[in-house]
Formats: sequence, C-alpha cells, structure tokens
Amino acid sequence: MSQFKDQTLLVTGASGHFGRIAVEELLARGATKVIAGTRDPAKLGELEAKGVEIRKLDFDDAGSLGAAFAGVDRVLIISTDGIGKRVAQQTAAVSAAKAAGVKHIVYTSAPAARPNADAGLGVEHFWTEVAIANSGLDFTILRDHMYAENNLADAAHVVASGQLFGLIGDRGTAYVTRADAARTAAGALLTAEGKSIDDVTGPAAITNVERAALYSKITGKPVTSIALPPADLKAGMVAAGLPEGFAGALVAFQVDAVLGFHGVVTDIVERYSGRKPQALESFLTENRTALGA
Ligand SMILES: NC(=O)c1ccc[n+]([C@@H]2O[C@H](COP(=O)([O-])OP(=O)(O)OC[C@H]3O[C@@H](n4cnc5c(N)ncnc54)[C@H](OP(=O)(O)O)[C@@H]3O)[C@@H](O)[C@H]2O)c1
Repeated sequence: MSQFKDQTLLVTGASGHFGRIAVEELLARGATKVIAGTRDPAKLGELEAKGVEIRKLDFDDAGSLGAAFAGVDRVLIISTDGIGKRVAQQTAAVSAAKAAGVKHIVYTSAPAARPNADAGLGVEHFWTEVAIANSGLDFTILRDHMYAENNLADAAHVVASGQLFGLIGDRGTAYVTRADAARTAAGALLTAEGKSIDDVTGPAAITNVERAALYSKITGKPVTSIALPPADLKAGMVAAGLPEGFAGALVAFQVDAVLGFHGVVTDIVERYSGRKPQALESFLTENRTALGA
C-alpha cells in the first residue's frame, strides 16, 4: 500500500498542527526518508530525534526554496495561514518543486475552490490548484472540508447563550477532524499516483439544526439554531467583535454550505488513511470541556 515509503518525502509547514500529525503518520507508516520543512527548525527537535531531516523552508524566502526541495521525490505542500499572500507563497513552492525534479505534489485545498469573488478563502486555493495543474507534475489536490476543530472556537459561547446562528437554507457541512485530514494527506503522499482532486470529508453532512442538537445532547443545555440571511449573520459577527474581513470569510463558507458545496461526503479519508473518519458527535464529545460541559 505504501509504495512510495522509501522515496524522499517533504512536508512543508511541518511545525503547524497539521504538519506535525502528517509527519508522525509518515513515520508510523514506515516512511524512511522524511524531510520536515519549516520556517523555524528549532521547533522540530523532537522530530529530528526520530530520524526526520529538518530543513529551513519559508515560501516568502526565495533563497530557502532550492535547498529545501533538493533531492525531494514527493512533497506535501500545506497551505499557509498567510491569507492574502498565499497565491504568491504557494506558487513559489510549486515552482521550486518543479525546478528540483519533484514528481508528485499533494496540496491541502478547500471545498469548491474557485476564482469567483464569492468564494472567500477558496480563491487563493483555486489559483494554487491552477499553478499545480500547470506545473505538469502529478498531483493529489485534497480539498479539506471544514475542520471539526473550527467549532470549538465559539462552542462555549454558543452553548452558554443557547443560540447557534447560521444561514437560512443551510444544507450541512461534512466536518472532518484535522487529524483525519492530516493522516489522509500523509497517506496520499505515500500512495497516490496520477492527477486527482478529491474532497476530504467527515462521515456525514451536519446541518446547523443538527449541530445545535449535538451541543444540547452533549451538554444537557438547550441550544437552538437560528437561521438568518447572510447580511444579518455578518452584521451580528461584526457586532460581536469579529473583524469585517474575517466575518465575510466565515459567512462565505456558510453561503457555500447553503449552496451545497460543504455537504459532499466521500470515502477519501478511509482510502488514504486506512481508517474511517471520526464523526462530529464523537469529536465534540471528546472535547466536551470546550463546550463548557
Ligand atoms: N479546512 C479548514 O477548516 C481549515 C481551518 C484552518 C486552517 N486551514 C488551512 O490548513 C493549514 C494547516 O492548518 P493548521 O491547523 O496546521 O495551521 P497552523 O497550525 O496555524 O499552521 C500554519 C501553517 O502555515 C505554515 N506557514 C505559514 N507561513 C509560511 C511560509 N511563509 N512558508 C511556509 N509555510 C508557512 C506554517 O509552517 P511553519 O510554521 O512550520 O513554517 C504552518 O504549517 C492552514 O495553514 C490553513 O491554510 C484549514
């Protein structure tokens, strides 16, 4: 199954939450030549102790890219958190991969990545996908759906207030845990061939009504889903203190959920990680303290 385990595998952004899990998974699945790229090599001493080669890698630093990609057969490019800079950052990484003779790129994209202005953060992912396709290299574009972890940011507030605000017409979101998505990416780096774009999802599309019911079930407190038009939802977020741009991006995700883009359910997690994706209920129950339970 892991036919590329003896090739030289690079993970970019390896000190992030996703990157660390992906590197650990590569080791657990028997990869023998793993390179962890990061802006701050000092953070990855514990991976070095496990036999991982640590390389300085910063997409903003063109001078770091040639040495970071040298000798690499396959790379997992983890999308950065540099919103607004990501097309330039990630396109630089793709060019460096091609120049170094990399054969296969795995990339963490987003559902329904497209160039349209309504796509929110998906626009940067779309243009990165285009750069990868235009490179001529083989690729596995993994469109990671919403992390289950995203719910934890405001879960305690939602439960305490008893109100979960969302959009009218919500069709659901197939939340996937970051760990499942990272293990999937590692599996693709170890096994994928050819060119493909896959949605990486949890086991079911969960609507806001269903999510509110899960919060109630887990905490024992009543939580009601309240459905609003997009402009009202955004105004509420801004009034609650979120920056305008961030509120706009969050509402764009929810509009995509109304359109149905986030309700897709696939078997990609199981195909590449070898295990079934964790259900949202199980994840929230494990993290019940973040719900204030
Ligand atoms: N699907 C979702 O719901 C969802 C939610 C949040 C984020 N995301 C995406 O998934 C990615 C990984 O998530 P995470 O939770 O692991 O995020 P995180 O812990 O905040 O990590 C941020 C990542 O960005 C990398 N990075 C930042 N600037 C970089 C640069 N100049 N060059 C190379 N890498 C750079 C970091 O690498 P080093 O620090 O090691 O250099 C790190 O891997 C995020 O960056 C974001 O694109 C998806």
